[in-house]
Amino acid sequence: MTRDRSEWEAEAPTWSTERAGRLSRTVDTVTPAFEPPDDDPAATVHQWDSWQVRDRHGEVTSIDGWQVLISLTASADLLPGKRHDVATLRYFYSRNGRDWELGGTVFDGAALGQRQWAGSAVYDDGELFVFYTAAGDEESEELDYSQRIAVGHGGSVSTSGESVEIGGPWTHEILLEPDGEYYETQAQSRGMIYTFRDPWPFQDPETGEQYLLFEANTPVPEGSDRCDGDPQRQEFNGCIGIAHSPTGDLLEWEFEPPLFEAVCVNQELERPHVVYKDGQYYLFCSSHLHTFAPGVHGFDGLYGFVADSLHGEYRPVNDAGLVVANPANRPYQSYSWMAFGHGEELLVQSFLNYHDFGGHSLDDIGELPAEEQKRRFGGTLGPTLRLSYEGDKTRIRGVLDHWHLPGPDEELPELAAGWPPDDPVLKTEDEPQSGDRSGQTEYYR
Ligand code: FRU
Repeated sequence: MTRDRSEWEAEAPTWSTERAGRLSRTVDTVTPAFEPPDDDPAATVHQWDSWQVRDRHGEVTSIDGWQVLISLTASADLLPGKRHDVATLRYFYSRNGRDWELGGTVFDGAALGQRQWAGSAVYDDGELFVFYTAAGDEESEELDYSQRIAVGHGGSVSTSGESVEIGGPWTHEILLEPDGEYYETQAQSRGMIYTFRDPWPFQDPETGEQYLLFEANTPVPEGSDRCDGDPQRQEFNGCIGIAHSPTGDLLEWEFEPPLFEAVCVNQELERPHVVYKDGQYYLFCSSHLHTFAPGVHGFDGLYGFVADSLHGEYRPVNDAGLVVANPANRPYQSYSWMAFGHGEELLVQSFLNYHDFGGHSLDDIGELPAEEQKRRFGGTLGPTLRLSYEGDKTRIRGVLDHWHLPGPDEELPELAAGWPPDDPVLKTEDEPQSGDRSGQTEYYR
């Protein structure tokens, strides 16, 4: 049952312009410079958004002792900026969370959408559920940017002492399409980028109820008084959506009003996910500097919010919400961070994006020769970050190697002395500003 708009608008926890307006890099949130790994398991492909297979409770899990990682990928021969239009899910497997092999494609070609975007996977009772975004209409000849939330299930997963094989036949289903009430349809969208994607299941450990989080936009009708009635700022209407499964069935979902909103602050709250620790719910998402609203200066970074219950009220961590930011002289170094709890620590994996590019706008990348564009793009996992998190505070405390994704039972090495590094790059003179409407041409329109 949908409620009166003013009722849920008033209740939705919000990233206030006041808090977001205080975003700044600190020694606790900025990463060092990263280079690609010497030995790259993803050498033959561009790899970006990645997710470990988890259990129904959201814990990273193994399949017969193997860790499995699913990633968006495209041929490494392509210009990196073209990859979103041909994204394909591939899987990697590892025995020890350090040495990974590329297994192959997850689906057998019949997945929904013209291409598949992120992304999560649940291994439950011997069955693998791969949630994804069906991007584009598979019936249409033209490339389009519609987005629906889908799942593939029923595929086979077999393991041996040497490898993991994932294969079909899969059953594909559309689980959710935007309703136009809580979640904007593409036709309603007024902003530069449209979003309804990135499903991520989460079982609330305190209630046992099953939810699905996703990235979306809140409809803000023309003439609305939101953002003081400023139509330009109203275009920045990102939200984190949530659906509930009353029976716990991973294929049956009912929309709830958005879990969290960034109306007037940011247009894209990407790949939302929750880590639960000691009665606290940490809600994370990635965002870009160019998707912040005019007047709010953010970064390509991981953002976090904490609450005492899944439905909030969420407070930005570290005052304004910044958890991880790229160094100022490498503003596009990494992206699409995914956090997971490990003992008392929070580990965060991400991919190396344009790691060697300090230019004013991401659009300038397209002006470079093809080989230069490829060289500056990582297209592989970066080092894993180690953070502490307690109450409203997070802090980067060290890094693990590229591609090191420790399983739940792996003991982590002692934290190295000498952190934070002496020379964190918190600011530069020519750093790109959020007000520049740059970067969007790489994407979705
Ligand atoms: C984040 C992201 C996801 C989307 C994918 C498309 O990097 O924008 O939200 O599913 O990339 O390639």
